[in-house]
Amino acid sequence: MRAWGNVFDRVMDAVAMLGQNIKKTVEDWARFSEEADKLTRVFLSAEHRACADAVMAAMGAAGMQARVDAIGNVVGRYEGLTSDAPVLLTGSHIDTVRDAGAYDGNLGVALPVACIAELNAGGRRLPFAIEVIAFGDEEGVRFPSTLSGSRTIAGTFDPAALALTDADGTSMAEALLDFGCDPHAIGSEARDPSKVAAFIEVHIEQGPVLESEELPVGVVTAINGASRFGITVDGMAGHAGTVPMQLRRDALAGASEMALAIERRGAADPGLVATVGRFDAQPGAVNVIPGRVEFTLDIRAPDDGLRERAIAEIQTTLEEIAARRGLMSTIQKLYEENAAACDEGLMAGLEASIERQSIRPLRLPSGAGHDAMALASLCPMSMLFVRCGAGISHNPLESITAEDADVAARVFLDFLEHFDPAAVSGQT
Ligand code: HGY
Ligand code: MN
Ligand code: MN
Repeated sequence: MRAWGNVFDRVMDAVAMLGQNIKKTVEDWARFSEEADKLTRVFLSAEHRACADAVMAAMGAAGMQARVDAIGNVVGRYEGLTSDAPVLLTGSHIDTVRDAGAYDGNLGVALPVACIAELNAGGRRLPFAIEVIAFGDEEGVRFPSTLSGSRTIAGTFDPAALALTDADGTSMAEALLDFGCDPHAIGSEARDPSKVAAFIEVHIEQGPVLESEELPVGVVTAINGASRFGITVDGMAGHAGTVPMQLRRDALAGASEMALAIERRGAADPGLVATVGRFDAQPGAVNVIPGRVEFTLDIRAPDDGLRERAIAEIQTTLEEIAARRGLMSTIQKLYEENAAACDEGLMAGLEASIERQSIRPLRLPSGAGHDAMALASLCPMSMLFVRCGAGISHNPLESITAEDADVAARVFLDFLEHFDPAAVSGQT
């Protein structure tokens, strides 16, 4: 495609400030939290609504048309040269884990919006429209499901999820209505695959590879498949002072043996990871033998067969421990998404853009899940990773530098300049 001439040079000069502005925007959005001194912003909360309004304002200032869709996503659209032009989707999530870092997800919304603001300032229109989507439910903290927003765009949202309830017993459908959304309109938000060229997600790496390679950005090759389970272990509550050890059916001791067995299995295969993230012993009194434990399992691998085999073995181990200890255990699948491979043509395009910034391109897999996994069923996708300090994420110490945000913005703008919707390979 013909270069932009002086308009693009002007944009390049402006991006030197772009990294600072992007960082500032993300840090500004971090004030929308349910906790005063931590960042926690869950799906369809008042904080989510406040952040969505700020995102819409930023999109409007960038020359985009912005709206909140039926599942609570914020969708900003920057028209192409013609009204029937194909659309390039980009974006990430603005919901967070509890006590989160500011950049997970949010960077992938602020950066494209800032880049589009530059194009708009230069009066630039491309041979494709761009939609930036701020997904509302990637972390799955509030309801026992996740990727609701991206699955809606991909047309794979399961309406049964609307009946799922949060810790207060509020269903997703009720929360959507409170948010001002119409759950009945969710189906109509699914995109027509023939009109979507690709999905590109910009996201912090959330790992140490780019930092160890001394690189500001990298190209994602695939996103690991993941499964999440809720496990309940029932024993017999009793008096901590009177029940002899050999007569106990201690749910916490049993669940603890299970958690250690899960850790051992996760460590047994390269690339496999298994995590017990939540562990709740009841009734939780110092002088009562725990009668029930509820805990979670998050298990991931680049290969779906490896993950499935590990899950089967873990289930057998939990049953054996429960039987030996006279406990009852149940396991319920909460979420599953297969590994998603990135599009070869998009990866090559991102690599070329990185090389044009005189940076060594590096391909790497994603151990973390992303909305891009759901979009993979709609269109070719890939991701641009941005280095984060010490690889720390899901932690308030999460950080990026303005310089790296600048580089990522330059790469993203260059990718837009050279992206040809007709040339998307569809190969992974
Ligand atoms: O769990 C994940 O990988 C993502 O942060 N939701
Ligand atoms: Mn996350
Ligand atoms: Mn994320």
